[in-house]
Amino acid sequence: MLVLGGTSAVGLFAVQLAARSGADVVATTRNPAARERLIGLGAREVVASPSDLSGDVSGVLDLLGGSHLVRAFARLAPGGTLVALGHAAGEEERFGYGDLFGDGNRHDRSLTTFFLGAEADLGHDMSWLAAEIHEGRLDPVVGAVRPWRELPDVFAAGAGRTYGKVVFTVDGDHARTAPTDRPGRPR
Ligand SMILES: NC(=O)c1ccc[n+]([C@@H]2O[C@H](COP(=O)([O-])OP(=O)(O)OC[C@H]3O[C@@H](n4cnc5c(N)ncnc54)[C@H](OP(=O)(O)O)[C@@H]3O)[C@@H](O)[C@H]2O)c1
Repeated sequence: MLVLGGTSAVGLFAVQLAARSGADVVATTRNPAARERLIGLGAREVVASPSDLSGDVSGVLDLLGGSHLVRAFARLAPGGTLVALGHAAGEEERFGYGDLFGDGNRHDRSLTTFFLGAEADLGHDMSWLAAEIHEGRLDPVVGAVRPWRELPDVFAAGAGRTYGKVVFTVDGDHARTAPTDRPGRPR
């Protein structure tokens, strides 16, 4: 299974869950420094692009879209499925003539989409994920923990491009004053 965008917030979970379920996982990242960390999470191989794959894959979970999706679809084995889930690359997908041919060992390949917001009854799955993290069986890959008030500074510094998630803590004062300051807003 290929995880396109292995270092993304979603991809980091996907790599771990796929490896745990027995899949032979290949992940992509443009960041050479993230390679060993993705292997530590369960990836057998880390490549910069689908063009660098050593063989075809049975499934693709795509967080990037654009040319990444098109090149990954070309590496899909017969009967394989590509799930277009994210579009982090911000590119158009352009298939060329022949890319969707089914001959020459390219039969029965599927491309499908997924949208979390359209899923009903996620409570059980989310509770399971939370429990796995709580029990230490799933790594949320936290890159930094910062006070909530520093959120604008963290974004300005480009925290979205660092490895792992940034957790923001709500301190006691803020937690007590927030409901009064902003009535009706979720905490
Ligand atoms: N369908 C759904 O229900 C659903 C749910 C959640 C998220 N999403 C979508 O999934 C995508 C990923 O979300 P996220 O929050 O996990 O992302 P994220 O944490 O922001 O990570 C995005 C990753 O994409 C890679 N990347 C960014 N620009 C790229 C480019 N031009 N070419 C190649 N790689 C690039 C970067 O990895 P490197 O720097 O390591 O290469 C980065 O780690 C987003 O499009 C998001 O909207 C969809």
